[in-house]
Amino acid sequence: MKKTVVILAHPNLENSIGNKTIYDSLLNLKNVSIRNLTALYPDFNIDVQAEQQALLEADLIVLQYPIYWYNMPPILKQWFDKVLTYGFAFGTDYKLEGKKIMASVTAGSPKEVYPDNVIDTLFYTIKASAAYCKLNYLKPLISYDIFYMPQRIAMSKEPIELAAKEHAKQLKNIIVNY
Ligand SMILES: Cc1cc2nc3c(=O)[nH]c(=O)nc-3n(C[C@H](O)[C@H](O)[C@H](O)COP(=O)(O)O)c2cc1C
Repeated sequence: MKKTVVILAHPNLENSIGNKTIYDSLLNLKNVSIRNLTALYPDFNIDVQAEQQALLEADLIVLQYPIYWYNMPPILKQWFDKVLTYGFAFGTDYKLEGKKIMASVTAGSPKEVYPDNVIDTLFYTIKASAAYCKLNYLKPLISYDIFYMPQRIAMSKEPIELAAKEHAKQLKNIIVNY
């Protein structure tokens, strides 16, 4: 049975709707392990060996995060910087070669903000890093309009929760069928 590791990067899951809904839906899935980076490393002091081991055990690596300023949250960048080391991910050895990697993200803005050229830019660093480490890059899964602002009058959480549940359904489908 193929294994999936989900690298979850959200700075405060307690206040999240999108990523929390997706996280909850993956919790009891067989052959899926979740690395909740903020919970594991609140001080950004990543356990490189533990993270590398989790990657070695997986066939599919899912990067789960909210888009922040057209980018990934800083703890995920820290994870890239610390975990994908020379001699492990590239250089003298390519220990992740052939594994699949996919970004699964929530975006606050509507789809119109993200034409194909913006999407290409948004994920360029992940795609290029995947190629550098000889990983197989899968098309990202993106959900839009996932942005709850309690101060906005008459804004309901319901459509956001529904969209996040739909995202989780699609992600589970990918995990089971890739
Ligand atoms: C610091 C910050 C920066 C953000 N930048 C973007 C952005 O560049 N594009 C976008 O679509 N949404 C942006 N958003 C909205 C988030 O993507 C949105 O709040 C998140 O996906 C919701 O997921 P959650 O409920 O799990 O927190 C930003 C939110 C924050 C807090």
